[in-house]
Amino acid sequence: MASTKSLSAKINELKAEPIVEGDLVVKVPNRAAKRTCVKNGNLHKAKAEKNDEFYTRLEDIEAEIKHYRKYFKGKVVLCNCDDPEWSNFFRFFALNFMFLGLKKLIATHYEPNGKSYALVVDSTLDVNGDGKIDLKDAVRVPLKGNGDFRSEECMKFLDEADVVVTNIPFSLAREYLKVMKDSKKKFLFMGNVNMITYKEFFAEIKANRLWLGCTALNSNVWFRVPHNEEYRKTTAGHFKIENGEWFRKLRTICWYTNISHSKRNTPLDLVGNEYSPEKYPRYDNYDAIEVSKVSEIPNGYKGVMGVPITFLDKYCPEQFEILGIDRYIENNPHPGKRFTINGKEVYARILIKAK
Ligand SMILES: C[S@@+](CC[C@H](N)C(=O)[O-])C[C@H]1O[C@@H](n2cnc3c(N)ncnc32)[C@H](O)[C@@H]1O
Repeated sequence: MASTKSLSAKINELKAEPIVEGDLVVKVPNRAAKRTCVKNGNLHKAKAEKNDEFYTRLEDIEAEIKHYRKYFKGKVVLCNCDDPEWSNFFRFFALNFMFLGLKKLIATHYEPNGKSYALVVDSTLDVNGDGKIDLKDAVRVPLKGNGDFRSEECMKFLDEADVVVTNIPFSLAREYLKVMKDSKKKFLFMGNVNMITYKEFFAEIKANRLWLGCTALNSNVWFRVPHNEEYRKTTAGHFKIENGEWFRKLRTICWYTNISHSKRNTPLDLVGNEYSPEKYPRYDNYDAIEVSKVSEIPNGYKGVMGVPITFLDKYCPEQFEILGIDRYIENNPHPGKRFTINGKEVYARILIKAK
């Protein structure tokens, strides 16, 4: 371990301050109510910000990360939408720092109207000298700005990182993906299923530069939410209180990544699925068959097939080629519009072909 002298020199270099032990209790502040008070009548913005305030549970992070365990060894991990005091992402990586063999962990806090800070855990900084590196060795690095993931300071952290892991503000999904794409870094972030249909997301998915993580689509995922009465009112049946914490359930959550995992290379078992024109109707306005359930993709069919977006959960690039998504596929006769069968619109379809 580093000597006390070199330790303080390193802390000084980071311009950081040690955290008082016991400071780091992950909590959910009641700040959404404050932040979303609508002074300027900007209701849309306020709603988007409220929808960004979902805090991931430790068990859901662990359930995904376990599939990439070996990948993290020796890596610098950045959590760039993670108030370290509230985010279980920071907590997860800090607690598992040695188990995963991390080199460094950086988490940045976003403070829209003020100066912010980052928390850093470094494999060379055994701050409390207990021979281990974990949550108790975190140091606080003050930032000049508000910690926006697009800010110069946060982009510097991104340069330093090998991999970025977080649950993103959904309202900034397109901007977030662009930053990740331009950075050429590895990433693993939570988003919602609808993002698959965003032009920007789909282009990356089609090019095999972006895919879904391992947690199954349509799983129920509970998130801690701020103590804001609106959550209770608007989410009957999807809301619970446990040990004083408020939780909201969502079924439309998924992970997006560009890190390889074994699920992606497992072909779908199609044995027993025979093609027949009666079972698989053609679209009125596009030359492809409709496959309404992923489990019913016909075995050996050589033409173009339209499948639900849940296909991506089972997508194995050695088995299928993705040609496009209905609204944006190049030869859609009505660009921007979905396909129809007997005049009835069919919900979002991905066009695929067997390899
Ligand atoms: C869906 S929450 C997830 C929080 C945390 N990652 C977790 O899963 O517990 C998104 C977080 O992004 C933060 N955020 C919103 N806009 C941001 C921005 N421009 N830059 C960085 N973080 C931002 C929000 O404050 C919020 O904490």
